[in-house]
Amino acid sequence: PEPGWTVEADAVVVGSGIAGLTAALELRTRVPRVLLVTKDVLASGSTVWAQGGIAAALHPEDSPAAHLQDTLVAGAGLCDPRAVEVLVTEGPARVRELVARGAVFDTGADGSISLTREGGHHADRIAHAGGDATGAEISRALVAQIEAVRDDPGIEVIEHALVLDVLTGPPGPDGSPGRACGVTLHVIGEGQRDGVGAALGRAVVLATGGIGQVFRSSTNPVQATGDGIAAALRAGAVLGDIEFVQFHPTVLWLGSGVKGQLTLVSEAVRGEGALLVDTDGFRFMPDVHPMAELAPRDVVAHAIVRSMAQTGSDHVWLDARHLDAEFLRLRFPTINDRLLEHGIDMATDLVPVAPAQHYHSGGVVTDLLGRSSVPGLYAVGEVACTGVHGANRLASNSLLEGLVFATRAARHIAAQVTDGALPPLAPVARPGAEALVAAAARARVQRIASEGPGPLRSGDGLGRAMTALGAVPTDAHLRTDDGRRLAAPQVAEWETTNVHQVATVLTAAALEREESRGGHARSDHPLPVDAWQVRLDMSLSPDGTL
Ligand code: SIN
Repeated sequence: PEPGWTVEADAVVVGSGIAGLTAALELRTRVPRVLLVTKDVLASGSTVWAQGGIAAALHPEDSPAAHLQDTLVAGAGLCDPRAVEVLVTEGPARVRELVARGAVFDTGADGSISLTREGGHHADRIAHAGGDATGAEISRALVAQIEAVRDDPGIEVIEHALVLDVLTGPPGPDGSPGRACGVTLHVIGEGQRDGVGAALGRAVVLATGGIGQVFRSSTNPVQATGDGIAAALRAGAVLGDIEFVQFHPTVLWLGSGVKGQLTLVSEAVRGEGALLVDTDGFRFMPDVHPMAELAPRDVVAHAIVRSMAQTGSDHVWLDARHLDAEFLRLRFPTINDRLLEHGIDMATDLVPVAPAQHYHSGGVVTDLLGRSSVPGLYAVGEVACTGVHGANRLASNSLLEGLVFATRAARHIAAQVTDGALPPLAPVARPGAEALVAAAARARVQRIASEGPGPLRSGDGLGRAMTALGAVPTDAHLRTDDGRRLAAPQVAEWETTNVHQVATVLTAAALEREESRGGHARSDHPLPVDAWQVRLDMSLSPDGTL
């Protein structure tokens, strides 16, 4: 649809998790006009749900070098060491800035930030807030900073704004994508900012988060429909590591019929000493990895999948019964309350858990300044593939990545704007998905994705998933014979189209990568293959094929 209204800014930031809020706050003091748009309200999205914490070498006996080493090991040979170096060396300063912005972390008796351990870390380096409500506290602090300047003419916030597509200028002589100069939005608002509009800017920052809703069950909230990845793909951006999906080992299992957003039981519970036992009561992790329950996340998730297959069960147990009841209640108030809602007292009961989709390690390929392959288009946070996660993200590196790279991207954009390097540009191309996928097909796509590129994959299963995704109906029935739409598309259709597009590119990449590595496990290629120690890039060719 043609935009019904236009708003202009120097930089357009899409998304309001830790990455989007940080980018907007950094830009606000550096460029004259910032537009922050978010799909729901400011305090929504995945950051709010982050429990365990944010990793940074803050302890005097820890070091960025040790953090780098743990990150590289977890990433199973696919991290970009330069990006990890940036993450771990700039991380501690960024966390201290977060404190200066008002985030209150848990502290010890001496006033220093309390640090815990999670899977894959060889040091206590996870800062947490409210026990197990770290993301909620970070979101609260950053949203408060935005709210405090909301009347400032230098920043505009549009809530309930779904990003549709990236607007670009003239393509390069070789057909390469033109510079990004804005986005189209579908806003559920009032007056001038209602329906489809265009937000124009000298640079666009995608901070749209993850893809959890591609799967039948995930720890992600309903907003995580992969909108940024799909829009970037349609705009010609290169995606990387897209097949590496992280399945969190310990998600509360309430029966196979329970779908949608599931309750996370943080790695920090294992960090404080909880153990994993199978349904026969056997503690299986010491036989799998020297770090046992605190092995990297992919190792634990795959060991659980194997254990469930061996016992014929659909869950394992998390056992925290040997830990002090009062300690558990105070250290994990959110998890404790959620479990009690289901009649589970972790001080006295075994907690049923199984892996579920949690995080997307891949995304829109960027350089160390957050720049994608489309000039003027930046990606930060979970939507990005900076190279810090490789094949498997190290626990609690995600909030840190959002913080570090959003700051870098924002400062770079500001320098460009100040130097006049990003003159305003009129859009000439709006890529747009022409055939939208009917909203009613979402459950079907989620089932296909969960069975194809799920925690344990096979060439046959992925091939079947590709065929099934190709057969998902579009909204052709909503069009006249000459292609005109009978009704304006709604948010659910656009989102389902994105979910379908992400599922397709993810399945195609998983089919291509004939090995097992990190978050990508294939029963027909169970070992890592040296020749595959490379990032697999995916993009759309001009005819729309992958
Ligand atoms: C958790 O608390 O287990 C999640 C931490 C993360 O995803 O890094």
